[in-house]
Amino acid sequence: MYDNWEKLEKAIIGCRKCKLCENRLNIVFGEGNKNANIMFIGEGPGADEDKQGIPFVGRAGQLMNKAFDALGINRKKIYISNIVKCRPPNNRVPENDEAEACLDYLRNQVILVKPKIIVLLGNTALKNILGSEYKISSIRGNWIGKKNILYMPTWHPAALLRDDLKKIDFWKDLKKVVETANELKIEL
Ligand code: URA
Ligand code: SF4
Repeated sequence: MYDNWEKLEKAIIGCRKCKLCENRLNIVFGEGNKNANIMFIGEGPGADEDKQGIPFVGRAGQLMNKAFDALGINRKKIYISNIVKCRPPNNRVPENDEAEACLDYLRNQVILVKPKIIVLLGNTALKNILGSEYKISSIRGNWIGKKNILYMPTWHPAALLRDDLKKIDFWKDLKKVVETANELKIEL
């Protein structure tokens, strides 16, 4: 573990700890407020993120931004990252060895950000952070408290592009996040 951002960011440059290094254009480390109270964790970069080196800038990200705007969540006040920092080929789900290789970076990011709330976007984030026994379809929308962090699992924004009903769920789940943030006097 690195005790500051500079060391952590330096450590990931040129990372070749897993096979996802082979096809990436850019490592997508994370973006936002490094002292955020709320952190969002996705799965892994897609094509647009890979090109730009920034998380959630493609279609799924733009949809998430719309929800943020409508709910009054300022993207600059939160921190966004992913389970794996390099794009899986054809946007496939990261394999276990890849997630395992990359998770130390994310754990280190969580330690440095010290969020009070973590929103888990989709099954990959849920299973890798809270455990493989969880399923997004049954647990989403429910708070899970662990070691002083409140976790809110919800659909991955890419799933919303394929299913309008999931948009309603996603909205409800983020609304819970906003309400709890208000109760905790967290600025959004
Ligand atoms: N999907 C993800 O899981 N993460 C991104 O950064 C973009 C799309
Ligand atoms: Fe390294 Fe993570 Fe990229 Fe794998 S996905 S090469 S562990 S930064």
